[in-house]
Amino acid sequence: MDIEKSRKSLCVPGSVSISSWLFLIAALGVVLTAVGGCAGVTKGPVLLRVSEDRAALMWETEVEGPGKVLYSQDNSLRKKVTTEPIRVEYKINKKAAFIHKAWLENLEPGREYNYRVTGQRAPILQRIAKLGRSSIQSKVYKFRTVPADTNEVTFLVYGDSRTDPKTHRKVVEQMMKKKVDFVVHCGDLVSSGDRYEQFGPQFFEPVKGLAETVPLYIAKGNHEGNSGNFEKLLIPRGEKNSFSFDYGPLHYLCVDNVSKGLQTKEQLELIASDTKSSTARWKFVSYHVPSLNFGGHWSAWGYPDALRILSEAGVDFVVTGHSHQYERFRPIALPPGGDGSYVTHITSGGGGAPLSRIEQSIYHAEAGKIYHFCLFHIKGDELTMDTFDINGKIIDHLKVVKTDGRLNKQHLWTAVPMAAVRLHQDLHRTKPTKLPTRPKKGQSFNVTYKLSVPALGEPAKMTFKLRSDQGAYQLPEPKTLTIPKEGGTFNVEFTVVPLAEVKVSKKPIVPALWLECHYEIGRAREHISHPIVAKP
Ligand SMILES: [Fe+2]
Repeated sequence: MDIEKSRKSLCVPGSVSISSWLFLIAALGVVLTAVGGCAGVTKGPVLLRVSEDRAALMWETEVEGPGKVLYSQDNSLRKKVTTEPIRVEYKINKKAAFIHKAWLENLEPGREYNYRVTGQRAPILQRIAKLGRSSIQSKVYKFRTVPADTNEVTFLVYGDSRTDPKTHRKVVEQMMKKKVDFVVHCGDLVSSGDRYEQFGPQFFEPVKGLAETVPLYIAKGNHEGNSGNFEKLLIPRGEKNSFSFDYGPLHYLCVDNVSKGLQTKEQLELIASDTKSSTARWKFVSYHVPSLNFGGHWSAWGYPDALRILSEAGVDFVVTGHSHQYERFRPIALPPGGDGSYVTHITSGGGGAPLSRIEQSIYHAEAGKIYHFCLFHIKGDELTMDTFDINGKIIDHLKVVKTDGRLNKQHLWTAVPMAAVRLHQDLHRTKPTKLPTRPKKGQSFNVTYKLSVPALGEPAKMTFKLRSDQGAYQLPEPKTLTIPKEGGTFNVEFTVVPLAEVKVSKKPIVPALWLECHYEIGRAREHISHPIVAKP
C-alpha cells in the first residue's frame, strides 16, 4: 500500500480526517482543563486580613455571578461563604472583571484552616463540557489564625514593587523562603493604579505562592491613584485604608498618607490616638511617604511635627517606602526633658521599582541603593531584624532588647538628637536663592541663603562656604553663624566673581558652584550642599 492510499483509508466519511478529530478533541481538552482548574480565578486569592477569629479574602474571576469560599480546619471544606462580585473594567479594552471579597467568621485562634475559592464557569464552555459542575475552583490553600496567647511573631516588610514585575518576583521568591505570620507592603504596587490592567502583571502575578497563605497588609502608595481600583481590589468590606492589628507582643498600624494629597493633621492624630491606646510591647507604624528620608524623594511627611509626635506616641519602628532605596536611621532621641520613645525610621522602597540615589549621612545606621526586604522577629522583649537583598544575602542586622519597656543601652548609645535630624531637614529644604540672570565673566554677583530655623532646643554652629570644582570663580571667605536654641531667621550672602564664561543648565550653573553648610549641634557634625542655579 502506498502512502496516498494509506492516508485515504484512514479518512472518516464526511471528509474530516481522524487526525483532525484527534486534534480538535485534544484542543478542547486543553481548553476545558484550563477552565475547569484554577485558571478561571484570574487574580488571587489573596489574604487581606487574619485575626484570632476572622479572615478576609479577595479573588477575581472573568465571569459574572456569585462565588464561594469553602473552608474548614479539616479537609472537608464543609463551611461556606457566598460572594456577590464587584464588576470592574479594564481601561485599555473595556474588558470586564469581577472582584470577590469574603470574610470568614467565627474562626478559632491559632488554628490552621484549609480553603478554596470558586466562581462561575463561562456559559458556552459549561454547555460544551457537560461536566455537571457549574463553577471553576482554585486549589486548596492553608492559612493560620492569630494565636490567642503568644509572645512571638515573625513578619516581612517591603515596598515599592511597581513597574518591574521580574524584579518584584525575585524579591518575593526570597521572601517565600521565610516562614512568617504576615507581610506588610509599604505601597506603590503598580505604575498607575488608575489602569486596572496593571494590577495583574505588576502585583498579583509576582505575589503568587505567598499571598494565598499569609495575610498581606498594604499601606497605600501614591501610584495606586484615586480611581478606586486599589480599594475595590485590596480593602476588605467594612475596612478603611488606614487600619491597625495586633499579633502577640506587637501592635501594627498601617496609615494611608497619600489619598488626601499628603494631608498630615488627620493622619498624625490617628497615629497618636491609635498607638497611645495600645499596651503592646512593640509598636510599628507603616505609611508610604516617609517622615525621614535622605536621598530619593527626600521626603519629610508630617514636617515639622511628625518626628516628635511619633516619639510621644511611643512608636518603636516606622517603616515606609516611596524612595526606592534602603535606609535604616539610628534611633532618634527627643530633646532633653522630652518624654517619648526612641523611634527607628526605615525606608524600605526596594521591592522592584527602579532604584534611587541615597545621600549617606551620620544619621544612617545602614543605607544602600539596593533591592531588598526586611524580616522582623519578636519574642517577648527581644526584637531582631535582618534585611535581605534580592539574592537572599543579609545586608543589615539589628537586635534590640527592652527591659521594663526601655531599650538596651548599647542601642541607645547609637541614638542621634532629634534637633540635629530636624536641622538637616531644614537645611535640605531651604535652597539658595536662584540667580536672576546668567552670571558674566569678570562681573560680580551675589549668592543668598535665607534660612528659617524653628526652635531646636539646643544651639547650633554653622559654617557656610562656596565651592567650585574647577577653580573658575573668585570665592569669598567662609561665614560662621551661631543659631540659638530658640531658632530664628538668618540671611547669609556671598559676593562671587566668575573667572570664566558661565553657562546656565538645569542643575548647577557651569562651571559648577556649590554652597556648603557645615554644622555642629550637640555631638552631631554633618554638612549639606546645594547647587547654585540661575534662571535661563
Ligand atoms: Fe511613591
